[in-house]
Amino acid sequence: MSKYSLSNFPPVQLLESDRVLRSLVKAHRYLAELKGMARTIPNEGLLVSTLSLQEAQSSSEIENIITTQDALYKYQLQPNAVDPVSKEVAHYADGLNAGFQQVRDTGLLTLNTILEVQAILEGNDAGFRQTPGTVLKNEQTDSVVYEPPPPNEIAALMNQLEQFIHSSSVLDPLVRMALIHHQFESVHPFYDGNGRAGRIINILYLVKEGLLDAPILYLSRYISQTKGQYYASLQKVRDSNDWQQWIIYILEGVAVTAQHTTRLVEDIRALLQQHKLHIRDNYKFYSQDLINNIFCHPYTKVAFLEADLGVSRATATRYLDTLSKDGILNKHRLGRENYYVNHALVKLLFNLSGLNQGELSAPEGNR
Ligand SMILES: Nc1ncnc2c1ncn2[C@@H]1O[C@H](COP(=O)(O)OP(=O)(O)O)[C@@H](O)[C@H]1O
Ligand SMILES: [Mg+2]
Repeated sequence: MSKYSLSNFPPVQLLESDRVLRSLVKAHRYLAELKGMARTIPNEGLLVSTLSLQEAQSSSEIENIITTQDALYKYQLQPNAVDPVSKEVAHYADGLNAGFQQVRDTGLLTLNTILEVQAILEGNDAGFRQTPGTVLKNEQTDSVVYEPPPPNEIAALMNQLEQFIHSSSVLDPLVRMALIHHQFESVHPFYDGNGRAGRIINILYLVKEGLLDAPILYLSRYISQTKGQYYASLQKVRDSNDWQQWIIYILEGVAVTAQHTTRLVEDIRALLQQHKLHIRDNYKFYSQDLINNIFCHPYTKVAFLEADLGVSRATATRYLDTLSKDGILNKHRLGRENYYVNHALVKLLFNLSGLNQGELSAPEGNR
């Protein structure tokens, strides 16, 4: 049996120690709150379309692929208007969304889905590593910290992981998510994109397990803000077989992020209600589809509204110009086209990216 095999996990009693159980209670409580809060938003696509871009940004940032939310929204308006780095990050969101569709349609999180997600985010179909020589290095010192399995072991290890993902187990699903992420990163099946694909798998797994209806818990922001700990913690499992600290690190991430996202969803819901009442009371052209449009596309444009409302170009232009004259949207120009920003929503979304450090107390904090 390979030394990289999953059967090297310690027994359940060790994985679910008292400390882990305490963290689990907290993580589940906040996750359930988030799931409930998300259900109060009538249009599920609304949260997914905005939050997946935040996830894309943070997850890519961990790999030093840096862009802004602004560039990602501009990519949606005009894919050719943005730089290659922002395009790459936008592809992360595409991969996440494609993975979500598959998990939702099949109830499974298969190897094929994982391969497809990685292909979309990398923009190539190289698939699993085939040539030896991949090593993981310490970013600061450039020294090799870990050598993943050779290419000829990858297929078997990934099959084993796929089975683990779908097997029934006494282990809590959040503990399993932590194990799956660690194992995936350790197998490191691809030449590149392992970090990002692994973080997408986390979210998809939560959906597969029914802990969320849609992929809206984006752990990457927490990981990005605690990046040193993320790397150290992954490695510590290997160096000293210390699974507990890794599991608690992930559970703390779930708790912190779920709380934060619940507040965001609550704020979005309030804003949605406020805009809806205001537009309904003041404009004959009010419709629920219009409201959905300016919330699914915080940066919207005439063509988006035309398509969503089935109205003419002139009519869509008139609606958006009226709303921008009255200050509900801000009108800007990108190349030869106008776009309209739901600035109150954007403020909520962009603010969140700067998670304040005070909220990242060490695991075992008294929250
Ligand atoms: N010591 C380690 N053990 C296991 N996985 C690690 C270790 N150090 C880093 N990683 C994982 O490798 C990822 C980077 O791999 P890479 O293929 O470059 O991902 P990406 O292309 O998304 O940048 C990190 O995000 C992390 O998940
Ligand atoms: Mg990389």
